[in-house]
Amino acid sequence: MAEAEKQIQPDTSAPTNRIAAATSWLKSVGRREHMNVIRNPRKPNMRRSYMNQLINDTVIKLAESMQLPERVFNIDELPWVPFDEGEVNCYFKPLRFDLSTGTWTYLFKIKSNKVLARHRHTGGSVIGYNIQGQWRYEGRNWIAKPGTFIFEPPGDIHTLITEDEEVVTLFILGGSLQYFDNNNSIIGQDDIYTVLKKYRDYCNKTGIEVCEDLIY
Ligand SMILES: [Fe+2]
Repeated sequence: MAEAEKQIQPDTSAPTNRIAAATSWLKSVGRREHMNVIRNPRKPNMRRSYMNQLINDTVIKLAESMQLPERVFNIDELPWVPFDEGEVNCYFKPLRFDLSTGTWTYLFKIKSNKVLARHRHTGGSVIGYNIQGQWRYEGRNWIAKPGTFIFEPPGDIHTLITEDEEVVTLFILGGSLQYFDNNNSIIGQDDIYTVLKKYRDYCNKTGIEVCEDLIY
């Protein structure tokens, strides 16, 4: 590969490696520029030039090196993973697992005429955009139709009910989902780690390669 080509290749190494590389580079440039100033103490505007050099070449490069790389996925190439244990009423297509914040994004599919377990979103909000079908939360005065955007604050407790059509909704979730029984006792919980485990287990079981690029 030509040297010019190498330079425009995206840096897709692990963030820790990129930070280490950028820090090392920062030190070497800093040392070189510092020595330039020391060797030329009377050169006009040397200090200003030195600072500009540091900002333009070093700080910006460091920031760019820590920026997340672009990710593009075709949902047709991602599997519908069963969400429930036992009787499966829901499936998801994983789109992102952000382990640094505990936030995950998935397309969620629910069969028609189902009542999902009542649950609380502890420590994270719910952002949803409904794509297909209609659903509602028990006791609320609104219905999610195709094109409906939903925000639910952390702590929201709800029971999702679908109607006569299969539902597909894009959800961005944080924290955990705590499931209740009829006595308000917590009987189960999901969070980014359990959802990621469902995805990994399904891939292992069906021979699908885990898309590690979904974790960023
Ligand atoms: Fe929910």
